[in-house]
Amino acid sequence: MTKKIWNTNSEVPSSEISLFLAAEDIELDRSLLLYDIDATSAHIKALCNIGLIKKGELTKLLRSLKKLKKDYLSNNFILTDEYEDCHSAIEFFLTEAHGDLGKKVHTGRSRNDQVAVAMRLFAKDKLKELNSLNKKIATSFLDMAIKHENIPMPGYTHLQRAMPSSWGLWFSAYAESFIDNHDLINATYNWIDSNPLGTAAGYGVNLPLDREFTKDDLDFSRLQLNSMYVQNSRGKYETQILSAIKQPMMDIRKFSWDMSLFLSQEFNLLSIDTKYSTGSSIMPNKHNPDVIEIMRANYSIIAGYASELENLISLPSGYHRDLQLTKRSLVRGFDIAIKTMSILPNLIKSIDINKAQSLKFIDDDMRMTDKVYDLVSKGVAFRDAYNSIKSSKNEKGAISSKPMNSSPGSPGNLNLKDLIKRLKKQK
Ligand code: ARG
Repeated sequence: MTKKIWNTNSEVPSSEISLFLAAEDIELDRSLLLYDIDATSAHIKALCNIGLIKKGELTKLLRSLKKLKKDYLSNNFILTDEYEDCHSAIEFFLTEAHGDLGKKVHTGRSRNDQVAVAMRLFAKDKLKELNSLNKKIATSFLDMAIKHENIPMPGYTHLQRAMPSSWGLWFSAYAESFIDNHDLINATYNWIDSNPLGTAAGYGVNLPLDREFTKDDLDFSRLQLNSMYVQNSRGKYETQILSAIKQPMMDIRKFSWDMSLFLSQEFNLLSIDTKYSTGSSIMPNKHNPDVIEIMRANYSIIAGYASELENLISLPSGYHRDLQLTKRSLVRGFDIAIKTMSILPNLIKSIDINKAQSLKFIDDDMRMTDKVYDLVSKGVAFRDAYNSIKSSKNEKGAISSKPMNSSPGSPGNLNLKDLIKRLKKQK
């Protein structure tokens, strides 16, 4: 690690110590560099607003930042561990290009607010990406619910046969859950949509920094006002983001569980496109649902990151280097969630239902509750009707005339229009 901007020669840490301090940071900062460039552009424009950088100087610096962005995207600028982090790399690049002028960019800021703003911009973009995937998943589930609205399915509780159900109910249960996820992710987005830039190391600086300008320039909806709170919220915001990400991932875990059961030879209720399964290296007969199993397992990895994060932020107020390690949970957490969620829309569409098997499983016993309600509709009190049907369990009685339950939200009355309306409103 050679390109240090602030150490005097006598203070340059040994390479072993520098590498220990940087750990995975450079690799993670590759996800942040572009956001840091945007935040640096906003920062120097704000410095120009208060006369600390001249107009002509600003033009030169902005041009270089644009070039850095282009070079980075075309792999002509590589963020290697010769830089300590993406923040010092930007300053180094500008100082190399403009000498003393480059040295002005760090006026009024610290890497502490620099990393906070880069992380915030990164998280906002990723939450948007995540929510657009979440909407695609909800749409796939809802389309399948509409298509298979009245196809009978055995309904289970405790994994024991319970009551007749429909594939429409099963698909739309997931559709509604993902529609709820969208609201939660959106609320989280609004919750973190505040500008930490201009708070420096956590105590501000003695300058009239134009924080309102950087807020608008970077498209934040409000200021994160208190300079110390900016540092105190590192890890706090990330914890909420991961908790929002955990919701779709938890749904995917449940869906994967259902799928792994229903695809098994024992149930044989569903099949999916063969591209989602693999063979076995030893058993020629096998088609294993590996993709679904990895989806299920990915929840645990994200839950692990969330727990790592919560443990990391057991700290006093203000900045501590421990906070650097909060980056990994968020960057990797987003990556895993986005990769997992990207697979789902098409996988859902490829589901095929074994209708004959579904009907075969809906036996007479599963209709006993319907028979109870036939008696209830004739005026018998519920408990009496229950006891009477239970004691006649083995007698073959007349099967309910109503094949599906009709209370709102049940298989015979899904009211999918309501879900379609909610989904349409979501961006
Ligand atoms: N990589 C550091 C982090 O993520 C940047 C901030 C460094 N600040 C400091 N005071 N050492 O926390």
